[in-house]
Amino acid sequence: MTDHKDAGQLVCVGTGMLLGGHLTPRARHEIEHAEVVYGNFSDGLVERWVEELSKRFVSLQPHYQEGRSRMIGYEGMVEEMLAAARAGQRVCGAFYGHPGVFAWVPHEAIRRARAEGIRARLEPGVSAEDCLYADLGLDPGDCGCQHYEATQFLLYQRRFDPAALLVLWQVGVVGDRSLARFSTGSAQRALLVEVLQRDYPADHRVCLYRAATFPLEQANIRWLTLGDLADAEVDLADTLVIPPARPLTPDAEIRDRLKALEAAGSAG
Ligand SMILES: C[S@@+](CC[C@H](N)C(=O)[O-])C[C@H]1O[C@@H](n2cnc3c(N)ncnc32)[C@H](O)[C@@H]1O
Repeated sequence: MTDHKDAGQLVCVGTGMLLGGHLTPRARHEIEHAEVVYGNFSDGLVERWVEELSKRFVSLQPHYQEGRSRMIGYEGMVEEMLAAARAGQRVCGAFYGHPGVFAWVPHEAIRRARAEGIRARLEPGVSAEDCLYADLGLDPGDCGCQHYEATQFLLYQRRFDPAALLVLWQVGVVGDRSLARFSTGSAQRALLVEVLQRDYPADHRVCLYRAATFPLEQANIRWLTLGDLADAEVDLADTLVIPPARPLTPDAEIRDRLKALEAAGSAG
């Protein structure tokens, strides 16, 4: 749709993982210039920091209720931001990390706004993924990297590659089909371990990773065996990182064909 409404707009920004340390100049500009900033931060300190940068700040936290599907809260967040944009306001949605990484609300709000002819876009931020590459010294280019939401990983048959990195998000609520819990237990994690053991040995080293969110804080990095994962303490903010279990397997046929192309002097 090209017929943009004159006034209202929605920009969803990421504030990064680290309080005060990851905010890009573009995200800061949107927060400072919006007529209203809707913020989704679980930490009160982060909320107050963004509030201080804002002309007017509204917390989206009241939309969360334990025991009720998060989707109901998410729907409320999307519609609250859109109502302000529909009323002609310059609206900013501020989300920790990257607003487009494992984040349904910003994507859905942008989709609906655009469908209604309201100018809308995402501004990228530093995500947990970015931090884990830095803190764990991993490069997704070394052997490839796959990311899945942990419960979705359980619920569907996936063809993933144990010769590449595997990153499972929301492992603290793995197996919660109700979307209403803030944590799940060792029984659900045991099921995850069972599924992973189809491709990884029980003594395979995996990492429960939590990026620092406050200056002077260190990243929380816990290496343990896959077999010990079920009984480990897992936080809602932990991400599970599983290094490759086997080396890359060369594809002899494709290598031969590439060699033949080189010999024929084909530049493609
Ligand atoms: C709804 S997603 C939000 C991700 C966020 N948009 C981002 O860019 O990182 C929540 C999940 O992100 C990951 N996460 C959140 N905070 C984290 C942290 N401090 N360190 C590592 N992973 C984190 C966890 O897997 C958590 O379950």
